[in-house]
Amino acid sequence: MAALLFPHTASPATMSPPSMLSPATFRRCRRRPPNFSPAAFILLLPVLIIVAADPDDQACLSNLRASLEDPENSLHNWTKSTFRYPCNGFTSYLDGATCNNGRIYKLLLPGRSLRGSISPFLSNCTNLQTLDMSSNSLTGAIPPDLSSLLNLAILNLSANLLSGQIPPQIALCAYLNVIDLHSNYLSGHIPDQLSLLARLSALDVSYNRLEGPIPVLLANRTGAASRMPRFNASSFVGNKDLFGFPLPPMRGRGLSVLAIVGIGFGSGMLSLVLSFTAVCIWLRATERPPAGGMLNGEDGKISHHVPDY
Ligand SMILES: *[C@@H]1O[C@H](CO)[C@@H](O)[C@H](O)[C@H]1NC(C)=O
Ligand SMILES: *[C@@H]1O[C@H](CO)[C@@H](O)[C@H](O)[C@H]1NC(C)=O
Ligand SMILES: *[C@@H]1O[C@H](CO)[C@@H](O)[C@H](O)[C@H]1NC(C)=O
Ligand SMILES: *[C@@H]1O[C@H](CO)[C@@H](O)[C@H](O)[C@H]1NC(C)=O
Repeated sequence: MAALLFPHTASPATMSPPSMLSPATFRRCRRRPPNFSPAAFILLLPVLIIVAADPDDQACLSNLRASLEDPENSLHNWTKSTFRYPCNGFTSYLDGATCNNGRIYKLLLPGRSLRGSISPFLSNCTNLQTLDMSSNSLTGAIPPDLSSLLNLAILNLSANLLSGQIPPQIALCAYLNVIDLHSNYLSGHIPDQLSLLARLSALDVSYNRLEGPIPVLLANRTGAASRMPRFNASSFVGNKDLFGFPLPPMRGRGLSVLAIVGIGFGSGMLSLVLSFTAVCIWLRATERPPAGGMLNGEDGKISHHVPDY
């Protein structure tokens, strides 16, 4: 509103007391051509806003669109012209996006059958607070570039086909509240750096291919940070080679009780069969009559039955 009012009050003809203007504004006003009319300015105002649309958001959106495949055409109004002017204050012209002060604030694209990858250029949407691309078929890695999203509070990329490691750099998004990466193909260790996220209240990395120890500081929010929630086993289950508190001990390591019983029973049976066979062989060997007598007897039998010619 102030921006709207100033040009008129500041135009040379209707100048009000100079004390109302900052020296900078005053200087700018004086440099304006004398015949500049306020009406022309009002006509130009929408054009000025469009021109001032954020170039970072534009790069972010057009690169994100380019990295996505959209078989259901659910991003039909994600077009170049919309990217140039996606927001008008708090109004969004982009399906799946929310705006705040003319900048992209939330990207909510869950369950749209999207394929392709997550563009690293998402890092240019620097005012992004929520990124939800869950329940799609996205592949590739989570770009470490997301670390530039310093306002990011909610990251939900669950139920996709994402692979690679959880980038430790996302710990630089200090306002992260929610990290939901469940049901993907993420591998490697859970980065220790995630324990630095003081505001993290929900974490779900279940059903991936993560391995190694669960960072102690992430699972045990004890001591100084005892106010913080502690994530229970449901945040970590479904990763075959992940271990440590809060998962039950021995999980994914060593042998299960069933395997131990099975191996014990199996080897017992095997030794029983082996010793039984050995005993049989020994008995037959010792009970067999002298080799010559047996052969003679059989020869006799055969000669007895075979008719003579
Ligand atoms: C895009 O779609 C959304 C929702 O369907 C709508 O509100 C918005 O006006 C559309 N934008 C354009 C530029 O058509
Ligand atoms: C992430 O999105 C899925 C739906 O796609 C939803 O079920 C889940 O609750 C979300 N996670 C969080 C932590 O809100
Ligand atoms: C984490 O918590 C478990 C269970 O309360 C406890 O046994 C373990 O010693 C704790 N570890 C640390 C490093 O505090
Ligand atoms: C684990 O925590 C989640 C929320 O953080 C809760 O919904 C769930 O009931 C908990 N599960 C157990 C077994 O405590």
